[in-house]
Amino acid sequence: MPIALIVLGAGKGTRMNSDLPKVLHKIAHAPMLWHAMRAGRPLEPEACVVVAGHGADAVEASARAYDPMAQVVRQDEQLGTAHAVAQAFPALEGFEGDALVLYGDTPFISEATLEAMMQARRAHDVVVLGFEAADPGRYGRLVTEGDQLLKIVEYKDASAAERALTLCNSGVVAADKTTLQQLIAEVGNDNASGEYYLTDIVEIARARGLSATVVRCPEAETMGVNSRADLAVAEAAFQTRMRAEALDLGITLAAPETVFFGWDTLIGRDCEVEQNVVFGPEVTVESGARIRAFSHLEGCHVSRGAVVGPYARLRPGAELAEDVHVGNFVEVKNAQLHAGVKANHLSYIGDAEIGEKTNIGAGTITCNYDGVFKHKTTIGRNAFIGSDTMLVAPVSIGDGAMTGSGSTITKDVPPGALALSRADQVTKDGFATKLFKTLTARKAKQQQ
Ligand code: UD1
Ligand code: CA
Repeated sequence: MPIALIVLGAGKGTRMNSDLPKVLHKIAHAPMLWHAMRAGRPLEPEACVVVAGHGADAVEASARAYDPMAQVVRQDEQLGTAHAVAQAFPALEGFEGDALVLYGDTPFISEATLEAMMQARRAHDVVVLGFEAADPGRYGRLVTEGDQLLKIVEYKDASAAERALTLCNSGVVAADKTTLQQLIAEVGNDNASGEYYLTDIVEIARARGLSATVVRCPEAETMGVNSRADLAVAEAAFQTRMRAEALDLGITLAAPETVFFGWDTLIGRDCEVEQNVVFGPEVTVESGARIRAFSHLEGCHVSRGAVVGPYARLRPGAELAEDVHVGNFVEVKNAQLHAGVKANHLSYIGDAEIGEKTNIGAGTITCNYDGVFKHKTTIGRNAFIGSDTMLVAPVSIGDGAMTGSGSTITKDVPPGALALSRADQVTKDGFATKLFKTLTARKAKQQQ
């Protein structure tokens, strides 16, 4: 059965107290919207329509950045969830199959849950995702009888008996697209909020002789974000889950609660991650690599046997091949370090390619930026870059070449050559002793 996702994200999110549309607030470095869109991916949807309203341009750009095929429609006035879904239908003209409504601010719906909903769709016309709420608060309540869902009552409109129900509406709904469109066409706004409630489709469906049911999921999956406090709770929940998954996958975490993952971090088995490590977006770490304490990684790839940190920073485009060592206070950006390269102390390596087994001495800097343009540094294999070398890019150092400590290298160095660029040393016997005496005497005089 072909599936189309409809992701609602037009709401303002007043309680976020933010200039940024709510669905663009990030969890684990990705907008909530991306989490919601990703949640639907395992169903291999044929179409994905995002409904944008507040900050629509930004929401549109973000949706496209995640999925260039996503369609974004506008809901200029937020008249309710049914009205929001209705905006998606023109984009789905010609589509035949099921529509699955997701909320952009409900990022954690699992694949298993969506599969269960699709399974339930075989026997029922409308499938609503519900959950047993520890604190039902202002959620819509699900009124059931056996496996039938009779109706959904919004908190504002609910009787005391209905408010006592703990089975709540997550907002996620699946139905045949054409059926959903017909049901929504009948939804009115004569209720406590004066809004077009998507939840009304259940009663309308039943009045037409269609069947509706509830699929239940753990409350953790339906966690919605309405405030910064909720966002912090969602972040913590996401991190807790990622840590547990990492441990299950055979990754050693010395202190799991101090490791922070990106939403898409991929780490291989038998990796070791020490304390206080932060993974930003787009990080892959191969099996058996070691990420030592206080390292910060984003947009990078770390191969087998590599050791990163302690206190290392890998920025976007850092490519570490097998057995590379990047040590304390070393920053790597947009640079390929081939197998066995060592840069163990206090360096900046940006816009560079470094050949196999080359050693980068302490304090080496690739001077890649001239204030306007970025330039590349190329270093061959088995080279030795002396401590405190300034490599003024564009520049290249050949295979097996050396640079003397403290050199500023502005011209290419051929393979096998030694490049030195520092003033000759001058040594004056006894001068230091004399100078100390003079200075000490001057200080004594000042203090009289
Ligand atoms: C909705 C449900 C409620 C459920 C709760 C779960 C309805 C009427 N109520 O209530 O039963 O328990 O979610 O969190 O559906 N949105 C739009 N356009 C609109 C209105 C909303 O795009 O005109 C989007 C929002 O951006 C948000 C989602 O729909 O992503 C839910 O809207 P919200 O106003 O938060 O609904 P609730 O009142 O929480
Ligand atoms: Ca809400």
